[in-house]
Amino acid sequence: MSDDMHRFPHNFLWGAATSAYQVEGGNSNADWWEWERKVGKEASGDACRHYELYRQDFDLAKELNHNAHRLSLEWSRIEPEEGRFSDKELEHYKNVILALKERNIEPVVTLHHFTNPVWLAKQGGWLNIKAEKHFLRFAEKVVEALADKVRFWVTINEPNVYTYHSYILGVWPPQEKSYRKAEQVTSNLLAAHAGAYRLIRDIYRKKNLVIPYISIAESLQAFVPCSKTLKNRIAVYLRERWFNFSVIEKLISSHTLDFIGVNYYTRQLVDVESWGPNHLVLDVCKRNHDPRRKNSIGWDVYPEGLYDLLIKLKKYHLPVFILENGICTQDDDLRWEYIAEHLKSLKRAMDKGVSVLGYIYWSLLDNFEWDKGFSPRFGLIDVDYGTYRRSVRQSARNLAEVCKTGIL
Ligand code: GCO
Repeated sequence: MSDDMHRFPHNFLWGAATSAYQVEGGNSNADWWEWERKVGKEASGDACRHYELYRQDFDLAKELNHNAHRLSLEWSRIEPEEGRFSDKELEHYKNVILALKERNIEPVVTLHHFTNPVWLAKQGGWLNIKAEKHFLRFAEKVVEALADKVRFWVTINEPNVYTYHSYILGVWPPQEKSYRKAEQVTSNLLAAHAGAYRLIRDIYRKKNLVIPYISIAESLQAFVPCSKTLKNRIAVYLRERWFNFSVIEKLISSHTLDFIGVNYYTRQLVDVESWGPNHLVLDVCKRNHDPRRKNSIGWDVYPEGLYDLLIKLKKYHLPVFILENGICTQDDDLRWEYIAEHLKSLKRAMDKGVSVLGYIYWSLLDNFEWDKGFSPRFGLIDVDYGTYRRSVRQSARNLAEVCKTGIL
């Protein structure tokens, strides 16, 4: 094998991710749906019509040699009113997961991916201490229904990104700007995770099933000081603690993490103007002194950050699963460069002893990118939003070769 060849393990999981609200369409019982109308943002509407077209989409994933797929269940469909569960929607998700299994694709199932039922939002959403109890009742319903088909559960997607956008920056519903509320929401989300972790294991035990792997998906960013001033170094330290590692450490200490689910996209160049909590947490460099290739919404392409973060995760002695990594761009050559360079970083970390279960690209399809609407194109597969026609991109075909051979 030549030096520039990268060989991944035989049992490596390869695939792509979606989340229900971003691809399904018609999720009119979700808080996001109401919010889009209220603020007049581009609406998710029919999204990719994946709710109807999932079989066709999974055929494409199969064609691309994926052996894993990450998806989420839309709570607001399954429990459209408090305490009323829809058998029809539970059946739907059973069929979705069966469709993956029939194609020999391992489902990686997320229970909460940013959206909430409207009824929960009306009760204060995750600020309400009761959210945990509601979430656990929902989790129990779906895990009871799907346990025999699922080996990987992700309880909550990116608690840090969710609280940051919804309760600190105030750009996602419910548009709050309060550190106190962000703290409260984080603590309720983590309690819900811990409860779900135990609940899932109990259900599998009761059913005599092999205990599954359970985790969260945590967004990690490479925080890079743009000059090594004391302020910048302290800010990097605080952001790494607060954004990257504190949740992981809390869950490890409560013994509720079987692997570390990592979502990685980019770096943040940290440059703090002056002392003060807001500056330390939020200031970024505005000078363009270390330019990098960028995605279509301005995030730097920074593959070495993935390596650095994985090395930092080594001390936790848990396997890592890359649950999201991807780029929105109209330049498909850049998409492939992005994927290849991140896979090289990943392999480099594996060679240094980091144990990695698999690599899931974000996203299988172009989709609804939250407050940014449909223009960012993250997909391995292009979606024509006029006709809902899918076209496989060349980057997807290049990745398909790696999925097939395990060699980059
Ligand atoms: C997230 C989510 C996805 C996003 C993706 C691109 O990480 O924010 O899991 O829903 O669409 O990350 O921003």
